[in-house]
Amino acid sequence: MKNLRKPKTILLILFGIILLLQLFQTNKNEGQAFGENDILHATNVPDDIKNILVTSCYDCHSDFTNHMWYEKIQPIGWWIHHHIDDGKRHLNFSQFNTYKDKKKAHKLEELSEMVSSGEMPMSSYTLIHGNAELTDVQKKALIDWANAARSQFASPEQEEHQEEHH
Ligand code: HEC
Repeated sequence: MKNLRKPKTILLILFGIILLLQLFQTNKNEGQAFGENDILHATNVPDDIKNILVTSCYDCHSDFTNHMWYEKIQPIGWWIHHHIDDGKRHLNFSQFNTYKDKKKAHKLEELSEMVSSGEMPMSSYTLIHGNAELTDVQKKALIDWANAARSQFASPEQEEHQEEHH
């Protein structure tokens, strides 16, 4: 037991644990991004909006993620996959057309809010994916589009009485 006190032993143990963690790889999120239930089939998504969504949001909010090599390194991969699962659970553009109209309207409303407040795309993501960062022009385009698309799914008074559904 004396050995356990030595820095070298501790380092070796730590290294062994990290190696062991690598055995537990996560499932890849590699379904169809633009399947039959994608938002593209729910409403009009002009090309520039589609490009913004795919570049800045689809990695966490669709059924297909462009996985990066470092996701194979645990626990980085677990941390990233937690975000993908969480993001998809809240809003999945690949399944958007399966949502009821009320939910569609609500998610688009949230989208405007999240984008205008700068909460989305997540800063931990744009830190690495610089091209996912939105310019003011892109933000405005996204918000205007979401607001227009939203009115297609909900009448104004319906929205007022809408409960929070997550
Ligand atoms: C790195 C992953 C990631 C990226 C990239 C990302 N999101 Fe998210 N998003 C999440 C996670 C995780 C949540 C849930 C937790 C939260 O609300 O912070 C979420 C929540 C949301 C919600 C709230 C949904 C609800 O009903 O609560 C909206 C709307 C949203 N994101 C829109 C976007 C948009 C639009 C983009 C692109 C401009 C984007 N997100 C990019 C991970 C991401």
